[in-house]
Amino acid sequence: MDNRPIGVFDSGLGGLTSVRELARLLPGEDLLYFGDTARTPYGSRSRDTIIRYGREDVELLLARGVKAILCACNTVSSTLPADYTAGLPVPFVGVVDASAAAAVRATKNGRIGVIATAATVKSGSYTRALDALDGSLAVTAKACPLFVPVIENGYVGREEPIVTALAREYLAPLKEAGVDTLILGCTHYPLIAEAIADEMGPGVTLIDSGAQGALALRGALEGAGLLRARRSGGEVQFYVSDSGENFAEVGSLFLGKDLAGAVHPFTLAAP
Ligand code: DGL
Repeated sequence: MDNRPIGVFDSGLGGLTSVRELARLLPGEDLLYFGDTARTPYGSRSRDTIIRYGREDVELLLARGVKAILCACNTVSSTLPADYTAGLPVPFVGVVDASAAAAVRATKNGRIGVIATAATVKSGSYTRALDALDGSLAVTAKACPLFVPVIENGYVGREEPIVTALAREYLAPLKEAGVDTLILGCTHYPLIAEAIADEMGPGVTLIDSGAQGALALRGALEGAGLLRARRSGGEVQFYVSDSGENFAEVGSLFLGKDLAGAVHPFTLAAP
């Protein structure tokens, strides 16, 4: 049993997809969320920069006394070296392996699509994870670099013209490949899941990488004996590296509760 908070981080709003699921799965746990809104998006940056940002995010949460870290960011999960994460003093859980496993369980025709940031697609993390689970799968991966800036700017509605136009453009190769399972391999994308589902049409299962990460984290906490006894009353504090207004506005809509009082802007040491 351990009463310290769980740390969760992402480049911005995306990790809220994990927060939503954690609040459902572990309602007694306190969460400490960091959204690096001053430096989002991560997914179009170089590997070295993503590693530096990811390490700073981890260290920031460790300095605040978290008992485990959920990296609710596919880009960082795909990039941070395994020897770094394995050497951390608390359990560290990424979102890629759990999402790949969920997709393998869901597919019937063996054709799986992955949409993600440019850095995640370039890393090959999903192709490797899926191949390790089942070498006979046909995997189609597509980078969707404009989704994150659009979502961070608050365009998340099902019929928002900019979202539907991007969905049409980005999802065409996945439809052509006949995938029956589509991994939303960026935690921001579940915020526009309705528009993505509309474009893909019926019969395609969407895998929410934020929610899968939350499930994997619960498993890790259980395994390490780190869950707290309390069954309700968990609180979430949100830290952001830039003004929290847009974060609070879109986040409140997505989580269905007012976040304004729980969002704390603060300044990171280095740009
Ligand atoms: N939500 C993150 C991910 O899962 C990061 C997106 C970005 O900052 O580009 O990849």
